[in-house]
Amino acid sequence: MVEAVGTAPGKIILFGEHAVVYGQPAIAAPLPAVCARAVARPAAPGAGLRIIAANLGRTIAVSPEPKENDHALVVAARLLLDRLDALVPDCQITLSSTIPIASGLGSGAAATTALLRALSRAMGCDLDLETLNELVYEVEKLYHGTPSGIDNTVIVYGRPVYFVKGQPVETFRVGAPLHLVVADSGVASPTYVAVGDVRALYEQNPDAVGRIFARIGAIARTAREAIGQGDAEALGGLMRENHALLRELTVSSPLLDDLASAAEQAGAYGAKVSGGGRGGNLIALAPPEAAPAVARALEAAGVKRAIQTILA
Ligand code: MEV
Repeated sequence: MVEAVGTAPGKIILFGEHAVVYGQPAIAAPLPAVCARAVARPAAPGAGLRIIAANLGRTIAVSPEPKENDHALVVAARLLLDRLDALVPDCQITLSSTIPIASGLGSGAAATTALLRALSRAMGCDLDLETLNELVYEVEKLYHGTPSGIDNTVIVYGRPVYFVKGQPVETFRVGAPLHLVVADSGVASPTYVAVGDVRALYEQNPDAVGRIFARIGAIARTAREAIGQGDAEALGGLMRENHALLRELTVSSPLLDDLASAAEQAGAYGAKVSGGGRGGNLIALAPPEAAPAVARALEAAGVKRAIQTILA
């Protein structure tokens, strides 16, 4: 056992959230401005494995035997130990994160990824990306209902992805840098609740909701081309269309709609919900010179924090 560090970025979904759960393509990118970080240190013999979750203000012990209500981080550590065929080591892991919880930026998947990176490295085994992604997805499935796998994939691979559930990871070409503003509405909204509600809507009306998913999928395919061509104006229009369809899926909110309008009035090409919705984050795409004004307008409209980022 040696001292080791693991990190993982947050993420944004550019196009295709929710529909991606039903097999449509989606586009996501890492958001390195926020991240999770884990530091694993060898502990005294017999101390066992303890996770100090700084943001939760608690220390979680990994008991030798699984328990019914084990925390997601404990389940993650166990999955790794099973995969490595290893006993619970004497180790203390300090986990911290700047990714707001339940904000659509992938806080859970990033925490799991950072933890598994640090623990596996401390045990002398640096996991390959495919195995790490598989383990993080297992944890996502246990705690988030029916995830598509896009969050863990973009976070583990740490690069932009064009994602279709169950298919090999693809990245894409960015023809010209995209200037994005990521705005935290300050309203916590767990993804699994929104995903569950969209499922209920789909089950009530599979034809109409299935058509919305198909339209979102078509937008994601067109957006991939527009990103390759560096056509930010076209992308803004696609974001507005995608946002309107997310509203039909009931995952926008009056606040998110107002924030999208505020961003567009301040000069953004377009804006949309990003991630599970209902609250969480909104993303806006702006001409480079307008991005600071869009961030200021969103802050004036009440967002908790507006991060400017460039996808290149
Ligand atoms: C959450 O970031 C994206 C959703 O599409 C859920 C998922 O794909 O698992 C809402």
